[in-house]
Amino acid sequence: MAENPKWNQRELTVGELSARSGVAVSALHFYERKGLITARRTSGNQRRYRRDTLRRVALIRIAQRVGIPLTEIGAALDKLPDGHIPTGEDWQRLSASWRSELDERIHRLQQLRDEFDGCIGCGCLSLERCALANPHDAAAQHGPGPRRLLES
Ligand code: FES
Repeated sequence: MAENPKWNQRELTVGELSARSGVAVSALHFYERKGLITARRTSGNQRRYRRDTLRRVALIRIAQRVGIPLTEIGAALDKLPDGHIPTGEDWQRLSASWRSELDERIHRLQQLRDEFDGCIGCGCLSLERCALANPHDAAAQHGPGPRRLLES
């Protein structure tokens, strides 16, 4: 296994990127195929990643962990400049463009945490409370799915 790259090293091999990011080499190659990260090739056809790729990989991992699809992650990363290392302003722009999407996800997760043990209007009518909260599956008239979660 490759060692962690030195702190002042500007370019990383795929092994070093893997060691420092904690992401398997195969996953890094996958991210590259999807256009989420890029590498230059040496004369020996080896990949070299700019050090700021570590930050991209960290963002990809965290975003995936909270369930954001790769296409959306890619669209967000496309907002970063291609030819130079992203500045603080570039990252700020990216995070601002993602704020409402993240706020929405946080809201949904909080709803799931707080309300999933009660009636959510999904039509199952299986909980004792549903008969009271959703008599005769009245929530179905508002559309498919867990209406109470979707509409709140
Ligand atoms: S939880 Fe499904 S209808 Fe109430």
